[in-house]
Amino acid sequence: MDTPLKNLAIIGAGAMGSGIAALFASKGLNIVLIDPMPGALDRAMATIDRQLNVYAPGNVQQAIDRIRFEPGLEAAASCDLVIEAVPENLDLKRDLFAKLDAICPAHTVFATNTSGLSINAIASAVTRRDRFVGTHFFTPADVIPLVEVIRNDDTSEATVNQVMVTLRFAGKRPVLVRQDIPGFIANRIQHALAREAISLLEKGVASAEDIDEVVKWSLGIRLALSGPLEQRDMNGIDVHYAIASYLYKDLENRTEPSDLLKSKVDSGQLGAKSGQGFYTWSPERRERVLREKSATLGELAEFLNRKASDA
Ligand SMILES: NC(=O)c1ccc[n+]([C@@H]2O[C@H](COP(=O)([O-])OP(=O)(O)OC[C@H]3O[C@@H](n4cnc5c(N)ncnc54)[C@H](O)[C@@H]3O)[C@@H](O)[C@H]2O)c1
Repeated sequence: MDTPLKNLAIIGAGAMGSGIAALFASKGLNIVLIDPMPGALDRAMATIDRQLNVYAPGNVQQAIDRIRFEPGLEAAASCDLVIEAVPENLDLKRDLFAKLDAICPAHTVFATNTSGLSINAIASAVTRRDRFVGTHFFTPADVIPLVEVIRNDDTSEATVNQVMVTLRFAGKRPVLVRQDIPGFIANRIQHALAREAISLLEKGVASAEDIDEVVKWSLGIRLALSGPLEQRDMNGIDVHYAIASYLYKDLENRTEPSDLLKSKVDSGQLGAKSGQGFYTWSPERRERVLREKSATLGELAEFLNRKASDA
């Protein structure tokens, strides 16, 4: 079946839910965006309006008109696909899907945007495990092309296919993750990188600005063209082996978050949203970076997609 699922419910209208709703609405699908928390839907409307103005400026009102904003889960009753984007809490997600299982018709496919919780553990709350997947979007969800699709032990081929087709219809590049492992693929790699970067900062090897500068303008710029495995082939696997033989034993390998990370959280230095993290953030700087980053990432993704389809 090559037609996308056309009626979508997005549960949770925060950073991810708003982006996912904006994306699918801009591609002509019907969305109901559900969030019971006071003020959440108003904030989502403002985010969606900002995002659409960045990458679909000629289509803002049409896209917004395709989104119904609702506080109650019952509004998901007539949907073909439900994508859950509520906070990262296993019990909350399980409880929500158990309710949706009773509300939605048998054909409705369920997807969770968990960052790395077990898809099997969430899916065991429903009777339709064959119609349940993980769809892991990346922030900003409407701009970053890749989505990891993770099956649970009972997900059917038909469900994987329907979800892949719907994501491709929206311009995404879905990749199937064959095993339900913590963090899937991207978050395992991202956290290995961040653990080392935070450790370098903690040891005083360089400033936060300089560590970021090194990653952005060396590995970062290259990674968009050659993934880490292709790059090893380009460098020579013997070269990699020789470096790995002396370097691995010196790399950060702690199994708990570092003291620096813990002290940041304990003192409320939570990053851009609290005004202080590894950097200092004014509300204006945060808003400017959010807006400019979406626009630049959108241009970059378009350029790279064009190069990939020309190749
Ligand atoms: N932010 C990211 O970079 C990112 C990336 C990939 C995946 N994720 C995952 O996506 C999910 C959502 O993350 P986020 O960053 O959008 O969080 P967020 O805090 O911005 O949004 C969560 C939303 O869920 C709503 N909510 C809370 N309880 C609810 C309920 N019972 N029913 C419906 N809505 C409810 C909240 O009001 C809030 O609007 C999490 O599982 C997170 O791990 C986040």
